[in-house]
Amino acid sequence: MVPANLISVVDLHLSLGGMPILRGINLAIEQGDVLGIVGESAMGKSTLGRCLVGLERPSSGSVRFLGDDVHAKRFRTSPGRRALQFLFQDPTSALDPKATVERTLREALGAAEGQVACSTAAIEALLADVGLDAKYVRRFPHQLSVGERQRLCLARVLALRPRVVVADEPTSALDVIVKTEIAQQLRMLADREITLVLISHDLPMVRRLCSAVVVLFAGRVVECGSVEEVLESPAHPYTRALLAVESSADSSAISASGCAFRPRCRRYAAHHDRRCEDELPDLLELSDDHRIACHQDDSGAAPR
Ligand SMILES: Nc1ncnc2c1ncn2[C@@H]1O[C@H](COP(=O)(O)OP(=O)(O)O)[C@@H](O)[C@H]1O
Ligand code: SF4
Ligand SMILES: [Mg+2]
Repeated sequence: MVPANLISVVDLHLSLGGMPILRGINLAIEQGDVLGIVGESAMGKSTLGRCLVGLERPSSGSVRFLGDDVHAKRFRTSPGRRALQFLFQDPTSALDPKATVERTLREALGAAEGQVACSTAAIEALLADVGLDAKYVRRFPHQLSVGERQRLCLARVLALRPRVVVADEPTSALDVIVKTEIAQQLRMLADREITLVLISHDLPMVRRLCSAVVVLFAGRVVECGSVEEVLESPAHPYTRALLAVESSADSSAISASGCAFRPRCRRYAAHHDRRCEDELPDLLELSDDHRIACHQDDSGAAPR
């Protein structure tokens, strides 16, 4: 039997209030991957991240963790559910304002390993892991800075001994120095063989931390592959615009027919390929670790 991917996403669709948010996502995530999910705001990144850990239910398609459907009731109520953790963008709303640092971590350790694991030493070890002083145990979230709150959230995630952590813009609420420190701590996850999915519009951070990257536009993957391929040699006009290699027309329009990116696409403006108007481009391989969804490139006629 072929071993299952750590996570496999198959033809995932999700609509909210009748609006399609995710439109046919296929992804395979392997153990030890550090996968970046990038794209402008409202492209579906957070929604996809929540689907990956079972927090949001898709309209159709599936997310499997080691072969198990993460949205099945059996999985959601199983101890294995802990293996998938989400680090929220806003640490303040993710924490219970009435729980001390100690209680927050004690509860997480207890959930993971039973009360035996909730020793003071285990709590201090977690605090040390995320660079928080042991004297913080009696503090409440309001007595911590925003950066310290995000460290506490990370310690809570570590206490749960996850296999996969989806971090949703984990540094967007933080200033530059704290941002760098949290980024270093995220790197620690990889050292512990935790698979990290980093949702971010901070491309330099994705470049530093990630091995692979997925570019989302209007709820679809338009480009994916290794970080070197996608961020150093971007092939899709949208990725090129994100990296400011080329501009895209100043519009937020998304086309309902053909390629969704067409209203902003320089390549289409230059070539007026009819397929861009009529056909949804499939993700096609440019090389072993680089795929894009663009008609112009699959014809080999892509202007560079
Ligand atoms: N609960 C909801 N109900 C309706 N629309 C939503 C809801 N949550 C998100 N959306 C919409 O889904 C789209 C994608 O949102 P999101 O996944 O948060 O994107 P991103 O993380 O890339 O900014 C946005 O257009 C957003 O307005
Ligand atoms: S398929 Fe056409 S419209 Fe879409 S990105 Fe490629 S060239 Fe542009
Ligand atoms: Mg988001």
